[in-house]
Amino acid sequence: MRILGIETSCDDTSAAVVDGREVLSSVVSSQDALHAVYGGVVPELAARRHLESIQAAIGLAMKRACADFDSLDAIAVTRGPGLVGSLLIGLSVAQGLGMRTGLPVYGVNHLEGHVLSPLIESELALPFLAMIVSGGHTAVYLVEDVGSYKEAASTRDDSAGEAFDKGAKMLGLGYPGGRLMDETARDGNRAAVVFPRGRVRAERFAFTFSGLKTSLWDYLNKQQEHASLEDICASFQEAIVDVLVSRAGELMTVCGVPRLAVAGGVSANSRLRGAVAEYGAANGCEIVFPPLRYCTDNAAMIAHAAALRMERGLPGDPLHAVSRLPLGPRLQAA
Ligand code: KG4
Ligand code: ZN
Repeated sequence: MRILGIETSCDDTSAAVVDGREVLSSVVSSQDALHAVYGGVVPELAARRHLESIQAAIGLAMKRACADFDSLDAIAVTRGPGLVGSLLIGLSVAQGLGMRTGLPVYGVNHLEGHVLSPLIESELALPFLAMIVSGGHTAVYLVEDVGSYKEAASTRDDSAGEAFDKGAKMLGLGYPGGRLMDETARDGNRAAVVFPRGRVRAERFAFTFSGLKTSLWDYLNKQQEHASLEDICASFQEAIVDVLVSRAGELMTVCGVPRLAVAGGVSANSRLRGAVAEYGAANGCEIVFPPLRYCTDNAAMIAHAAALRMERGLPGDPLHAVSRLPLGPRLQAA
């Protein structure tokens, strides 16, 4: 099943060609530099840049895969969740190509792309838990099978990526701040400052990061003496990592599923990688981090998810853009 994937849900313009589980090409054009001056993604600018870049990204993906449209079986495109203006660019281009070539166009839930991304290059037995930690999402899903997902936990306010980015902004590190905080924290003392590990009352597994952000602001603005920048970063990062690892660990226990995949931009964090791996080794759990190029937003995971669904005869999503879109019902135990 040869599929051209198109992904424009946020600020990465991406096109890829897959043949079943094999990725033949993957092109990602990042808009980080465009949004850096504003300290965050500006939706109108993101949509406009997608429009400028998408044709070139598709052309390059097709060229690198040595593919022509006659050799394809379908076009897969992200239809949500994401920024509506950005999604509309991908959807319009996909439908235009579909009309021109006669290929079927298959709508994909962006979150399904993420949760199935561990299967692109790794073997992970079903069921498994997938923790998606990015700028747009922080959630854990029970992946029972392709097309069958339960939401075991999600955030009630900020995502983990937003917590990193907003914390980094308060500390004057720059944008996007997650990677810069990771680097600054590397030699810092994780116990120098005690930041809160947020919990949502009456929702055992839900994430909350807004209190952490406030607590950093209070620490910086209300205290006379401060630890070093390295120590503050290491302590702030530890609070995020601690919550992610402990919640994922609790869910593996409750679900009786000792397999965890971690994806999304925050999964690049060196301390998170180390802490999750340590947890897995200590508790006999299998841990998979997909290669970083498939952790952050990319069209290969969209085409791959479509290929797995089509192999099983599952239908595509409707082709209209939606900003919010659940992947499945809440897990009852959670
Ligand atoms: O998945 P992604 O590329 O885009 C979406 O948000 O969907 O994730 C971007 C997020 C940003 O918040 C960025 O600061 C964070 O991932 N990030 C990191 C690291 N690298 C990227 N956060 C912590 N440590 C990192 N090394
Ligand atoms: Zn994403």
